[in-house]
Parts: sequence; C-alpha cells; structure tokens
Amino acid sequence: RRLDATGLVALPGLVDLHTHLREPGREDAETVESGSRAAALGGYTAVFAMPNTDPVADTAGVVEQVYRLGRDAGLVDVQPIGAVTVGRRGERLAELGAMATSAARVRVFSDDGDCVADPLLMRRALEYVKAFDGVVAQHAEEPRLTVGAQLHEGEVSGRLGMTGWPAVAEEAIIARDCLLAAHVGSRLHVCHLSTAGSVGLVAAAKASGTRVTAEVTPHHLLLTDVRAEGYDPVFKVNPPLRTDADVDAVRAGLADGTIDVVATDHAPHAVQDKECEWDQARPGMLGLQTALSVVVATMVRTGLLDWRGVARVMSEAPARIGGLADHGRPLAEGEPATLVLVDPDAVWTVRGTELASRSTNTPFEGMELPGRVVHTVLRGWPTVVDGRIAAAAGVGV
Ligand code: DOR
Ligand code: ZN
Ligand code: ZN
Repeated sequence: RRLDATGLVALPGLVDLHTHLREPGREDAETVESGSRAAALGGYTAVFAMPNTDPVADTAGVVEQVYRLGRDAGLVDVQPIGAVTVGRRGERLAELGAMATSAARVRVFSDDGDCVADPLLMRRALEYVKAFDGVVAQHAEEPRLTVGAQLHEGEVSGRLGMTGWPAVAEEAIIARDCLLAAHVGSRLHVCHLSTAGSVGLVAAAKASGTRVTAEVTPHHLLLTDVRAEGYDPVFKVNPPLRTDADVDAVRAGLADGTIDVVATDHAPHAVQDKECEWDQARPGMLGLQTALSVVVATMVRTGLLDWRGVARVMSEAPARIGGLADHGRPLAEGEPATLVLVDPDAVWTVRGTELASRSTNTPFEGMELPGRVVHTVLRGWPTVVDGRIAAAAGVGV
C-alpha cells in the first residue's frame, strides 16, 4: 500500500516514556486497546505503560499480562514499566530481576503513584537496576511535602484558598535522587519535571557527570496555574500546573537539551473521578493525541525547536532511555519503516469526546492546535491512514 506523503513531515515513530493505560483494574477509564488507538492516532509507535494499575505491575505476571494485551491490540509496542516497590508505597523492593528477565523484558522501573520516600530503598533500587543497565524513573514528589496539596503553592493557590504543592516538594526529591544516582553510578530518569528550579538541578547534575535524564509533559509546556481559577478539575494534575516563569524555564530546558524527552503522562480518569468537586477529583490529563500538536505550538512555532529536535525529544531520546532498540534510529536500506507523517500546517480543534481514549479529560478542550498526524506506520504496517485507525498491524515480534 502506498501512502501519499506530499507536503508532510516524516518523523521516526513517536515513543511515549510515560503513559497510564489503566489496565488491569480501571478498564472504565482506559484499556490497553483504547490507549493503543489513542497512541497510534497521536503518532506513537511505542508507549511505556506506568505500573500504578490494580493490581500494581510489580511482578513478572502483571507486566507480562500488559505486554500481551499490547501485542493483541497490535497498534503500538506496549512496553510495561515495572513498579520499584511491592504494591503502593511499598516498603520493600519488587522482583525487579524477574520482571527484567520476563517476556516483557522490563528495563524501566518507576515509583509513579508509589513514591519511594525511603532513601535506602531508592539506593537499593538504583544498585539493582544497574546490574542490567535499567533505569529508575522517579515521579518528582516528596510525599511528606504534598499532603493535602491541590495546586501549585503560590499566588493563585493563596487566592483560591487551596493547599499548595510547593516547588520544593519536587526539587528536594530530585536533588536527593540525583545525589544517590551519582553515588551509585546508576541511571536515574526524572519524570514530568515542572519547575525552573528542577531544570537547574538537572542541569547541574548532568554537568557533574551524573547519569540523569529528564522529561517534561505537554501540559507543563503550555498551561499555568491560573487555569484553576474556574475550579475545573480537568486542570488538576500531579505535579500541578506551575507559573509563567516555570513554563519559560521548561521550554528553555527542552530546547537546550537539559530536558531530554517530552512524555505525555497520559492519565485518563472516568467521568465520576473528574466531573466532581476539585478536592475530590483525581489528578491527571489525557495526552497521547494532543502531545505532538502541543509541542508544535509551544516549541516549533516559537522557534525553540526544529523538526529534527522534535524527532530527538519525542522518539530518539525516549527510545534510548527506555532501551527500545527498535525505535527512533535511522533505518537501513529496505528495512520496514516505523514512522509518522505529519501535516505541519493543518490546524484542528480538540474535542474530548472525539478522542479514542475511554476518558474525555483533556485540558485542551476547544483549543485549535497546529500539526496533524496523517499516517502512522509500525514496522511497515500502517496503523493510522488519513487520520483514522487502519486494521491492527499484527505487531508480533
Ligand atoms: O496527574 C497525575 N496522574 N500524576 C501522576 O503522577 C499519576 C497520574 C495518574 O495515575 O492518574
Ligand atoms: Zn507522576
Ligand atoms: Zn504519571
């Protein structure tokens, strides 16, 4: 089958290092299959699935289940992330080795939704993953500093009378874990950093030779805490939306390479968990189908990043960090392509109800965004043609 690429930009298939697919446990919010459709439509050919499912992905059995569901859906490579500890906020390490040697070949372990507050446990996790060149992805939250937090601690939270999530709650744990990673000589990945101070800490750690990488989300590149003024819980997210100065700093950090990756933190939530009072609502936003367009709006149209740079931060770097040899590298002659073709000039209007996700919680509702995914191709199979899902690709590897 021939795809018409006239006027389109070709990028290597996008790789999302941070997706919540909710299966097993919250199939009302998302499934591996519905999340895979959202991913393919967003230009992704691989997604890393976060382990804060129910049950938590802390055993070889659960990561293999998620891996198999991804293969059955057949639209993107679903690479499970293993939980660092057993269960939520667990007090001992999960079976990292069993997950690494399972069929899912887990290389990324995360504390997401499961913060490793204990520095000794974090040190052990870093030591453990070093043995197989894995990486610990940490969620940038010192939980003791975010008790009851509803919004970035600052002028807006003060005005709205909400308990604040201070920048230091993020920066303190990033500093700690950069120091631990340097001590152990292991790789650390900082998830969704969101403050100017965090960018500075990562830059300093990199300058001193620490093996640290970092990601920023599309929403932290575009939105600030003033969005909370209407008390619409669609803008509730962890870490919270920050200030204009923070947005400027994360954009600059992404442009200069301090931040390696744009990762979605795609976090679908069922209607009852989002269309309620702000305090009751769960944190999180959809991201897979809007990420590329938000990057075009905030980084390409502003001249901060060219398309080569987009390929780096949305495909090559996340593939390298997550250990996916298959994505984000130049193809040999005649090799089946894994790529996305994008119309750089097309503008589209975001409608949550029209997204492929089972949930509708997009913070970009009604926005006109530039850059539209036209075709997505996984190892030579078109998964998306003319902006619509094509037949499942039979990803089988
Ligand atoms: O906003 C968020 N939602 N941040 C997280 O860290 C977790 C995620 C979720 O699982 O809903
Ligand atoms: Zn997180
Ligand atoms: Zn997350």
